[in-house]
Amino acid sequence: MTIERMIGVIKEAGEIMLNARRPKIMEKTGHANFCTETDEKIQAFLISKLKEIFPEAGFLGEEDGQDVFSSKMGSGFCFVIDPIDGTSNFIYEYRPSVISVGLLKDGKPYMAVVYDPYDDLTFSAVSGQGAYMNGDRIMSSEAPLKDSLSVFGTAPYYTELQDRTFDIAKKLLPLCVDLRRSGTAAWDMCCVALGRCSLYFELKIQLWDYAAAALIAQEAGCTVTDTEGNALSYTGATSVLCRARGVKEIPECFR
Ligand code: IPD
Ligand code: CA
Ligand code: CA
Repeated sequence: MTIERMIGVIKEAGEIMLNARRPKIMEKTGHANFCTETDEKIQAFLISKLKEIFPEAGFLGEEDGQDVFSSKMGSGFCFVIDPIDGTSNFIYEYRPSVISVGLLKDGKPYMAVVYDPYDDLTFSAVSGQGAYMNGDRIMSSEAPLKDSLSVFGTAPYYTELQDRTFDIAKKLLPLCVDLRRSGTAAWDMCCVALGRCSLYFELKIQLWDYAAAALIAQEAGCTVTDTEGNALSYTGATSVLCRARGVKEIPECFR
């Protein structure tokens, strides 16, 4: 498996997203948690193509009921797929939405691709080999938090986390230039990797949301942990705090 082959498949899947017209929308559990026909189509396409080029790998995809990490995924290779990260954005034609595919090797992030088909932006990383956007090396910002934008996710499907989310956001706002909320967690982490902003947090996201983007961010020099500073598990849901190179400490507001 090479990162170039992985990128090729994911860019092809991007065509499905660009060509989608009024897809059927299905509701899932959790507040305003949707899946569309296009999510399902992209996931099926990715699984069939990636199986062809890497038959020995397993799969964990958001939209096929195979979305629970099992111990057998902790050894060998496993693709973790979010066919559309930013499904609500996609439904409302609000940008961005991305395709996110991480490849775990023995339960650790090994390769990662996040693709934004609208702007044809491909973020990629191989463990230990740096992070790239459209083939150019990227590094996170060295600016201090006070001179940077921060982004956050609202953990929208978990209403019990709203108060804590907005409490942190309120305390974070005066510590930085301003806050943003994009609607896709993978994109947010890629923006920290790229140096557009210096901090991303969200109190609960799933493995498919972070499997690819956390590696890209780490390879761009970011520190990616949960909000308490622990290493990510790569087995399931977690809080995530992604800090650029200039944000040396976990800010007070997370205590
Ligand atoms: C969601 C997006 C959103 C984040 C949620 C995710 P989905 O993924 O990444 O930005 O706030 O936590 O679940 O459902 O659009 O794939
Ligand atoms: Ca997602
Ligand atoms: Ca999704």
